[in-house]
Amino acid sequence: MLAQIKSLAGDWLQMRAIRTHGSRVGWKIAGRYTDYWKKAQRDCPRAMPVNPVIRTAVERFRADRVMSYHLPEAAGIARRIARKLDEREAAGERLWIDRVDLNSNANYAGDLWLDFPEVKEILQGPLGPFLEGYFGSAYKIFFATMYLSVHEPAGPKTSSLWHSDSGPGTCVNVMFHIDDTVIEDGTTEVLPWGSALEIFARERPEIRRRAAREGRELTGDFRRELQYRWYDEVISQLYADRIVQATGPAGLISAFANNTIHRGGYPQPGHRRRVIIFHAYPSDRPTNWALYDERGIKKSGSYPADPAAEF
Ligand SMILES: [Fe+2]
Repeated sequence: MLAQIKSLAGDWLQMRAIRTHGSRVGWKIAGRYTDYWKKAQRDCPRAMPVNPVIRTAVERFRADRVMSYHLPEAAGIARRIARKLDEREAAGERLWIDRVDLNSNANYAGDLWLDFPEVKEILQGPLGPFLEGYFGSAYKIFFATMYLSVHEPAGPKTSSLWHSDSGPGTCVNVMFHIDDTVIEDGTTEVLPWGSALEIFARERPEIRRRAAREGRELTGDFRRELQYRWYDEVISQLYADRIVQATGPAGLISAFANNTIHRGGYPQPGHRRRVIIFHAYPSDRPTNWALYDERGIKKSGSYPADPAAEF
C-alpha cells in the first residue's frame, strides 16, 4: 500500500516537472535549469531575429519543440565541410571512430572546433539568431560533435529506437546537415511536444503494469526495454501521422528538444548521414568564443550538472 502511494506520488511529481520544466531529468533538479534560463533572459537578453525564415522557425519551435529551416548561406558552409571531409577520406584518413552504443552513429575522430572553422561560421551565421530568438537570451554550447551514420544490418539500437533523453529542459539539440538529406538517410524522427506529453502521462503506470504482468522487478535495463517496446507500440498505433522528419538541401538546420520522443540515425542500405550536432543552452553572458578556441567543444558529459557553469 505504502509502495503504491509512493509510486503515485512519484508519477505526479515527475509529470509536473515534465510539464513545468520540459524535463525528465528528475523533479528534484529540473527547476534549476529553468531558473538559470530566466536569469539569462534578465542579464543578457536577446531579441527575436529579423529574418522571417528564422522567426518562423522560432515560433514553430516554441509550439512543437521541433522545427527545421534552410538558408542559402548554410548550403555554402555545408558544401565546404563536405568537400574537406571527402578529400581527407579520399586520401585514406580514418575520420570516424567509436560507434556510439554500437548503433549506427560514429564520431568524428579529430577536433571538430580546430579542424573546421566552419562550425563557428554556422553559429555566427545561420544558427545563432535562432538560438537567441528562442532562448530570449545569449546562448552557450555544452558540446558539439560530428556523426557519420551508416546502415547497421543488425537493426536499430539505442538512440535509433524511440526514446527521450533525460536532460535539462533548457537544452536544444541542433543538427546541421552536411549533405542533401532524404528520409532514407536516417534523418531524426521527432514527436511534437504535445504528443510526447500525452505518452509521458501514461508511461509510468503502463510500464509498472507491464513489469507486473511479466512478474519481474523494474531494474534499469528491463525498464528501458519495456519503454522501447511501449513507445514503439503506442507511436505506431496512435501517433504515426504526427512524426516530424526534416529533409532538405545541404545546410539544413533542424532542432528538437531532447526531452521529446525521438529516434534517429538509422539509414537504409546504401544511404548515410553526416551531421554536426550541437547541444545549446541559454547563457547569462555573451557566448565565450575565446573559451571554445582554447578548449574546443568536445563532449565531456551528457549534460551540465550546473547550468551556470562556464561553457
Ligand atoms: Fe536522443
